[in-house]
Amino acid sequence: MKKLLLFLLVQISVFAYELRECYIQDPIKHEENRQLLQEIIEEELDTSPEDPATYLSERINEIGVQLVQNGFHPDAYAVPEIDEYSVVSFDTFTLWEGKKHSIPLTFFLYIWPTEQFALRYHPESPENWFYASCIHSHPIPCAFTVLKGALTQSNYEAIDKKAKTARMIDKRTLIVGEGEVDDTKGMFIHRMINQGNVPCLSLHAYGELTAKEVSKQTVDFQAEHIYECEEA
Ligand SMILES: [Fe+2]
Repeated sequence: MKKLLLFLLVQISVFAYELRECYIQDPIKHEENRQLLQEIIEEELDTSPEDPATYLSERINEIGVQLVQNGFHPDAYAVPEIDEYSVVSFDTFTLWEGKKHSIPLTFFLYIWPTEQFALRYHPESPENWFYASCIHSHPIPCAFTVLKGALTQSNYEAIDKKAKTARMIDKRTLIVGEGEVDDTKGMFIHRMINQGNVPCLSLHAYGELTAKEVSKQTVDFQAEHIYECEEA
């Protein structure tokens, strides 16, 4: 499976610590999760929406709840052990691609270690930030919902779009069944971090036909969509 490098262009060769990514610990359960999502999406598409990608994105909370209620296996995924030689990273895995249906939408499963766990070692190191997303906007439409645990989202406004500086305007913790949709028509700059007590799983949908195309968009337009935080 193609792994995404969402906002994580890491030069591991010059990295002081080993980067240990969250992983699939049970491929059979992961495959069952993929199957389950496919069935749910096919049922959603039975309503013949005019714009299937937008329709599915806007229904991501309902789709996530259906997954959880119909046997989604959270234990297909795991957080690695870390030690004084390593730092932990969130990771993403492809669940569904719209290419077969000509629908420009791809779903991913994200697994987020807790901040508390990630900061057990090297809490002060500037290299220990891969457990959360950076502050970013999206080059393509994006929607997400929480499947397990809680995900804290900070929202930002741009101070200087050229210099890519932003200030935080609010912060909210999302739980199972809650999420957000960015159709890329307005200003949407956010950062996601797991400040809960258990690893968080979230379902994300991006507006491209395949994981490969999502990855390409993300990498190609990275410079335009990553911000630095300036204190208000
Ligand atoms: Fe995002």
